[in-house]
Amino acid sequence: MLIRNYKKEDEQGWLRCRVLAFLNTAYYDNVLNKKEVYEHPSIELVAEIDGIIVGLIDVEYEVEEGTVCSRGNGLGGMIWHIAVHPDYARRGIGENLLKIAEKRAIGLNLNRFEAWTRDDEWVQNWYNKMDFNQVESYYHLYFEGNEMNNRIATNVSNLFPVSTFAHYVSDDIEQFNNITRKHHCICYEKCFK
Ligand SMILES: CC(C)(COP(=O)(O)OP(=O)(O)OC[C@H]1O[C@@H](n2cnc3c(N)ncnc32)[C@H](O)[C@@H]1OP(=O)(O)O)[C@@H](O)C(=O)NCCC(=O)NCCS
Repeated sequence: MLIRNYKKEDEQGWLRCRVLAFLNTAYYDNVLNKKEVYEHPSIELVAEIDGIIVGLIDVEYEVEEGTVCSRGNGLGGMIWHIAVHPDYARRGIGENLLKIAEKRAIGLNLNRFEAWTRDDEWVQNWYNKMDFNQVESYYHLYFEGNEMNNRIATNVSNLFPVSTFAHYVSDDIEQFNNITRKHHCICYEKCFK
């Protein structure tokens, strides 16, 4: 396995690897058909085996405090994407990508990584294993059809929302018990030693 910098020609392989990795997660419908370009500098690595992109990590990082991460002091890096192709899972590829990104980050005087993920227990276990701490959370709610009734309206005439994705940032989550799709969205942070 080779871990190296992402290059433009990797885009299709990167997109395929990401979509396959996310299929079995709570982000299954978060599909990209183009790789993002970040506003701030970034560490973008891929893992390659026999010419196939089997893993990726993207970290956008701060050169000025408070410009990328949502919390914390000093210069941080936000992990926007980390994914391993499911056919190559549990071989240490994710861990190696993280380690190399972390080494680069320390060299760039960053003091931490931040990452957000939903309620997939095995992914949370991976973050815990990699020495991340859970630092905050809120909810992602999907309202569909009748779940919209008496809750979500618009004051634009002739506009009828049929589904809504919303962030809920308080504690009374029980009021949404009858909504089929809701996720706990969790912030993990790893402070470098
Ligand atoms: C999280 C992820 C990057 C880990 O990559 P990986 O190379 O498979 O994992 P590693 O080899 O570094 O670590 C393996 C550990 O991760 C956890 N893990 C990974 N895949 C797992 C699975 N399918 N089921 C259960 N645990 C799993 C286990 O703790 C495992 O340790 P074990 O094999 O000793 O039980 C990868 O599973 C992935 O792409 N997940 C989907 C995308 C995602 O949710 N990304 C993070 C949110 S942005």
